[in-house]
Amino acid sequence: MTNYDAGDVLTVHGGTPLNGELRVRGAKNLVSKAMVAALLGETPSRLYDVPAIRDVEVVTGLLELHGVKVTRGALDGELVFDTSDVESANVDEINVHAGSSRIPILFCGPLLHRLGHAFIPDLGGCNIGGRPIDFHIQALREFGAVVDKSEKGMDITAPDGLKGAKLELPYPSVGATEQILLTAVRAEGVTELRNAAVEPEIIDLICVLQKMGAIIKVHTDRVIEIQGVPRLTGYSHRPIPDRIEAASWAAAALATRGDVFVKGARQADMMTFLNLFTSVGGAFEIDDAPGTGGIRFWHPGGELKAVAMETDVHPGFMTDWQQPMVVALTQARGLSIVHETVYERRLGYTAALNQMGATIQTYRECLGGTPCRFGRRNFMHSAVIAGPSKLHAADLVIPDLRAGFSHLIAALAAEGTSRVYGVKLIQRGYEDFEGKLNALGAHVELG
Ligand code: EPZ
Repeated sequence: MTNYDAGDVLTVHGGTPLNGELRVRGAKNLVSKAMVAALLGETPSRLYDVPAIRDVEVVTGLLELHGVKVTRGALDGELVFDTSDVESANVDEINVHAGSSRIPILFCGPLLHRLGHAFIPDLGGCNIGGRPIDFHIQALREFGAVVDKSEKGMDITAPDGLKGAKLELPYPSVGATEQILLTAVRAEGVTELRNAAVEPEIIDLICVLQKMGAIIKVHTDRVIEIQGVPRLTGYSHRPIPDRIEAASWAAAALATRGDVFVKGARQADMMTFLNLFTSVGGAFEIDDAPGTGGIRFWHPGGELKAVAMETDVHPGFMTDWQQPMVVALTQARGLSIVHETVYERRLGYTAALNQMGATIQTYRECLGGTPCRFGRRNFMHSAVIAGPSKLHAADLVIPDLRAGFSHLIAALAAEGTSRVYGVKLIQRGYEDFEGKLNALGAHVELG
């Protein structure tokens, strides 16, 4: 544990319930895509309520490398994107960003439309499975792009321009749907996409694109039709709130027997989460006052109940809600079952929870619910959690963003002093989590 600087280690004195209020801002998984969409506009775009997180810094850096001027607006969290001088970036400079985010792949369509070519470095992101980009590449090829793999990444050109296509995704991938939207809006003709992802962040991205002049119809049964247009203008947009962050704090309130008001959280985006939260024995209350509203989440006392849950694409239970809720499930009486169907390797973090006293067994079989595409492929993608377990402090190393937050919740719920290494990873998606923890009465300090 010697290669972590003091700013990357959090000492957590656990065992205190989290109580108080915090605010969530624009959803990370919309904000980063809306920033890429700005590239498509011929006039400046304005995005409000942008959280100060590492992923926003990464996309800002990538946009600036491509000649976009990114400035702060008058309001807190307001960013302005001026795209009047979009230019090609130096390949080596783009590569500096390789390994830090998966967003670069979404630059393909906008850059092909603006410059005729794009370079995409090797991609990073969370280590939660193979995370291939085959759907993206296949779709780009069907639009007429030519993709050449080089030593440093991928060179993509469109010698005959990009043309609308009939596409069907093998799985409703969020990123591939975004790729197709960002490419189709300015491709010549009509694109029909079947088996599209329809997460609220995707619908919000469609709202952004519509403000820019795009024509996009969302039909029933995951079909999206996009009528290409020759030019797009900038947008002004207030993103949907971050429902992953909101659920993370809700799970933290439950696991620590606390009471947290998450200002900005919205019921409509979190219905599936709220159902499970209630089934486990958590309590919530919606305040839908404009501007000041949010959701209060608390542990009502007594014992939590074991549940069976399965992650899925929208409107199912989000894969990103799984890890924080599993920590709360270690406190529930009985056997809980988790079936992860979105990523093949998203249960590795449970080993650290076992080290802290939890009893979690992982399985290759599809447990509960319906068989998924990982069942026959030897991936540990189901888990049984036996509870309640008294968690005790440990030294933990954060493996990825969401698992990292779960480690943090476990350390907060455990008796004693834990040291959590690699907390900078959490800054990728949680704004000022340390300040928020302090505001909620947690006893934490860096170093
Ligand atoms: C987005 O990832 C989010 N990331 C993830 O959040 C989120 O967990 C995920 O969607 C699902 O909701 C961002 O928005 C930046 P996918 P994405 O394409 O787009 C397979 C977080 O912590 N697949 O929907 O990369 C893939 O392997 C992150 O905020 C292919 O096989 O997810 C996975 O099994 C983690 N080929 C499944 O589809 C492809 O070309 C879903 O992935 C693309 C995906």
